[in-house]
Amino acid sequence: MKTTKTIKSVRDLVKAARSRGKKVGLVPTMGALHIGHISLIETARRDCGFVVISIFVNPAQFAAGEDFETYPRVLDKDLEICRNKGVDVVFAPTPAEMYSAENLTWVNVEKLTATLCGQSRPEHFRGVTTVCAKLFNIIGPDIAYFGQKDAQQAIVIKRMVADLNMPLEISICPTVRAPDGLAESSRNQYLTAEQRKDAVSIYKSLEKCRQMIDAGVLETKAIETQMRQVLNQPGSIKIEYISIVNAETLQNLEQITGKALVAVAVKINGTRLIDNILVDTTGNNV
Ligand code: PAJ
Repeated sequence: MKTTKTIKSVRDLVKAARSRGKKVGLVPTMGALHIGHISLIETARRDCGFVVISIFVNPAQFAAGEDFETYPRVLDKDLEICRNKGVDVVFAPTPAEMYSAENLTWVNVEKLTATLCGQSRPEHFRGVTTVCAKLFNIIGPDIAYFGQKDAQQAIVIKRMVADLNMPLEISICPTVRAPDGLAESSRNQYLTAEQRKDAVSIYKSLEKCRQMIDAGVLETKAIETQMRQVLNQPGSIKIEYISIVNAETLQNLEQITGKALVAVAVKINGTRLIDNILVDTTGNNV
């Protein structure tokens, strides 16, 4: 496994792999790797002859007052995981390698970024799409892998790739959860043992939603009310949003029809956690 901080050398490594006829997979991450990230790496490993993972805590997607400075940075541990999982190249650039002193060019996906997480984090997705566009240009993967855990991010990236005719495929991998249902996240490590227990209510609220839909309740107001009750039970959870939206347009639904995204964002003592499920009332499995 090769580790590099420079754009030039990752390009050279990918070029050499391509000349050997390898299909290139990219897993973009911010590090602090957990089993959610590992599932993306494993999928890339199965699909592609050459797997690149990027580890870059992207300053452009954090607003002032968010956790950019304190975001966990554990490169040595991450490299060990990558080595064990058969990654070919780890690209771990510095901010100065990725951005000039004054970045003047941004990629912005409209509308889809104005709802859900975009409401409380208005510049977040612009940072995500810009860094992903840069990573796609630097590495030129055949397939890039993203997690369903960040559902809005996945939809926004897919839209960017379609709208800008970027020559790659986006593969969305299922959310990996702890045995008690909590979605794996690098931010879970901010939680105390007590808060970690409370956080399971996020998953329980999504389960509640699924149960109600299975019982034939499709009115989103009624579902949101019940989900709110589940989330409010522990007392430590501050709800940012509960949204039931069309899974493609992200527009709010009054009644669930077809494919819907049920998404939750909360704060537990300042730690922001998100989770979601996809539901399909047409009876197709999602
Ligand atoms: P990060 O939070 O490190 O996540 C990297 C990738 O792992 C994302 O595609 C995310 O959806 C996926 N992931 C995280 N937790 C997961 C889980 N429990 N199950 C499945 N997949 C999971 O998302 C980012 O970084 C950044 O925004 C990035 C795309 C790298 C751009 O900077």
